[in-house]
Amino acid sequence: MVAAPWPMEAPPMPGVRVSRPRRAAPADAVRPTRAEVNLAAIRKNLHAVQKAAAGQRVLAVLKADGYGHGAPAVARTLERAGVDGFAVALLEEAIELRDAGIHAPILVMGGLYGGACDEVLSHGLTPVVYDRGQLEALARAARAAGVRAKVHLKIDTGMARLGVRERELPEVARALRDRPELEVEALMTHLACADAPSRESMDEQLARFDAAAEVVRAAGVSFSMRHAANSAALLRGTPALGAVRPGLALFGISPVEGGPSLAPVMRVRSEIACLRRLEPGESAGYGWAFTARRPTVLATVPVGYADGLPRSLSGRGAMLVRGKRAPVAGTISMDMVMLDVTDLDGASVRDEVVVLGAQQGPLGRDEIRATELADLAGTIPWEILTSISRRVPRFYREP
Ligand SMILES: Cc1ncc(COP(=O)(O)O)c(C=O)c1O
Repeated sequence: MVAAPWPMEAPPMPGVRVSRPRRAAPADAVRPTRAEVNLAAIRKNLHAVQKAAAGQRVLAVLKADGYGHGAPAVARTLERAGVDGFAVALLEEAIELRDAGIHAPILVMGGLYGGACDEVLSHGLTPVVYDRGQLEALARAARAAGVRAKVHLKIDTGMARLGVRERELPEVARALRDRPELEVEALMTHLACADAPSRESMDEQLARFDAAAEVVRAAGVSFSMRHAANSAALLRGTPALGAVRPGLALFGISPVEGGPSLAPVMRVRSEIACLRRLEPGESAGYGWAFTARRPTVLATVPVGYADGLPRSLSGRGAMLVRGKRAPVAGTISMDMVMLDVTDLDGASVRDEVVVLGAQQGPLGRDEIRATELADLAGTIPWEILTSISRRVPRFYREP
């Protein structure tokens, strides 16, 4: 008799396949926590953005995995819906989109760390240049590949992050003019205060951008467009420069008051995993931060800070159960949270729990928006969306 190998492997459960959490399909999901991405809403928001852009090119910003929505699926949806191109922060984000079959122009905004110029050219990407030192390496790679490389020249008009500073601009512009292998397709800048109550700082940066364009032209470098507008600047209205670079608005969140109506895209939901009754005086969770003041029903929900739920919402946030808000009871753990469902008649195990988005249920209808979560957590909606972690599978819906 042959001895069984040790340790013995547990036999697989029939009919259940545990997948890697990223991009799981519905049948693969074991934990009921997931993010639903409404692709029709993305298309609707693109149309609202295109209307605001009034004929300018729309470069959809899909950095950080498409603001947490899954860049390949979002890019495919936007490309089919007629977006003009994409902008990402990292070379690897751009390559991920090309590998997903995206043909539209892709701008790599964040710099070429390590000068991976060959990769940029072989994937047909457009790099943003902002430093004289980058030009020769890129020109050399373009010469070797026998192509003329399109670049966008970034100008620092006050963000003081990336971009050629005003005093260095004439020299950088001449360096571009002297390298015919590089074609300056566009000038770009980034606005620091586009969502501020006053337009003053934004207008000051735009005026500097106009002056910078003159300096570049005077050096003999031509370009066919400029872009500066993120979602806030676009929705507030800025002079047409040829292209715009919105991110957040495509995901249904407006960073400014008013503006067109946008459709929320992401809905994060889970289910009640178990319920327990606490007598007055009994405590729950880490640090016993919750103590029952009355006979209480607590629901345990399998979503925690490792999924992107800000821990700072401990004892403060709420989630939707049966269409009504249930407050977070005590400390949010890494994988779980407890809700006080005492006042929610009929709350049961397997009831849907909505962390972000809308819910209609027997007790009513309510919605928790990313801006609300962000305000409560002391952050911004961009961080709420991009923090939803890889282990929360994204499910794409075409309602
Ligand atoms: C350079 C650049 N352009 C455009 C955007 C898009 O901004 P928003 O998501 O506010 O539209 C960003 C996002 O941070 C950015 O860094």
